[in-house]
Amino acid sequence: NLNGLVDRFGRRATDMRLSLTDKCNLRCTYCMPASGLDWLPKDKVLTAAEIVRLVGIGVNGLGVRELRLTGGEPLVRADLVEIVAGIRTNHPDLPVSLTTNGLGLDKKAQRLKDAGLTRINVSLDSLHPGTFAQLTRRPFLDRVLAGVEEAARVGLGLIKINAVLMRGVNDAEAPRLLGWAVERGFELRFIEQMPLDADHGWTRDGMITAAEIRTLLEESFVLTPDPRNRDGAPAERWEVRHRSSPGEVAGVVGIIASVTEPFCADCRRTRITAEGKVRSCLFSHEETDLLELLRSSTDDAVVARRWQEAMWGKPKAHGMDHAGLGAPDYVQPDRTMSAIGG
Ligand code: GTP
Ligand code: 5AD
Ligand code: SF4
Repeated sequence: NLNGLVDRFGRRATDMRLSLTDKCNLRCTYCMPASGLDWLPKDKVLTAAEIVRLVGIGVNGLGVRELRLTGGEPLVRADLVEIVAGIRTNHPDLPVSLTTNGLGLDKKAQRLKDAGLTRINVSLDSLHPGTFAQLTRRPFLDRVLAGVEEAARVGLGLIKINAVLMRGVNDAEAPRLLGWAVERGFELRFIEQMPLDADHGWTRDGMITAAEIRTLLEESFVLTPDPRNRDGAPAERWEVRHRSSPGEVAGVVGIIASVTEPFCADCRRTRITAEGKVRSCLFSHEETDLLELLRSSTDDAVVARRWQEAMWGKPKAHGMDHAGLGAPDYVQPDRTMSAIGG
């Protein structure tokens, strides 16, 4: 171990997030423009073999202890099952999870489970077909629900559902979404919208805050802090009881307050984009290329050292919280969430 992926502020990244593609088959308004983006040419995207090698460098040399595969939408990669299987063969005990929009999961869940995938997080912002279509600009709610159902059926671990609330669009639906999730044993997390949209339409006032989310949920539920240790996770968890039967815990809800209650000081994440660049933070303005090194050098230590250098420069914090939008020290990154990898 080359002393791991540490930064100037003493944080150690042990959670690797790897984007498998910049492509996506939805167009969520908080993420992508309606027209899509210019997709990367195939030869600039990490191959399955390069991905397996990079995970090995992270796990064997740099102290990576868990892996999340993201996108864009990772299920659009035809070789996803092969990638998971390749990683699993080399790392029998590594937790490997997937963040997906759920499209196509109905057909792939069993094969992913068999290949060794540990868990999934599915993005789902609405259970109303019309609202879903307005938010994602695609009419595919039924297909996403079929995907979630199949993942649950094959036993893909604890299923987490990610929902971004948008004012006047799906905010009123928050209690219904939570009722749906707890009934099925899923862990729903509500996420504050971050300024990572293509249209630069984010405003501090437009964003539904964590405090508002709790108020919305408390119309129907009683929330009490989950006693489990948060352990550096983005989500603050709450135990959920129905107002109608407050004696029993119905489930758990997470709230990810990236903007109003930032967790940068406890961040353990290192990100690799689909084109093989290290991003030390979601909000970095710098990226460090590993693809060229992976293709020109067979020496893993050389790649590892470049990765370490990139993480050393990880910013202290994203800076959004000081004064909201318009803070002189906060500049939105050029890339959208889809191109960074959730
Ligand atoms: P679990 O381990 O399954 O709980 O995963 P996770 O919450 O780390 O993963 P997921 O991909 O589901 O991410 C959920 C949300 O957390 C994202 O949509 C982001 O809003 C937020 N998030 C993830 N990583 C970061 C980060 O590095 N910084 C900030 N500010 N937010 C993040
Ligand atoms: N703010 C917060 N979360 C976002 N996601 C995508 N764009 C944003 C944004 N601007 C979420 C998606 C998905 C996860 C990977 O990131 O809902 O669940
Ligand atoms: Fe696709 Fe996810 Fe972005 Fe929606 S949030 S457009 S599903 S990458």
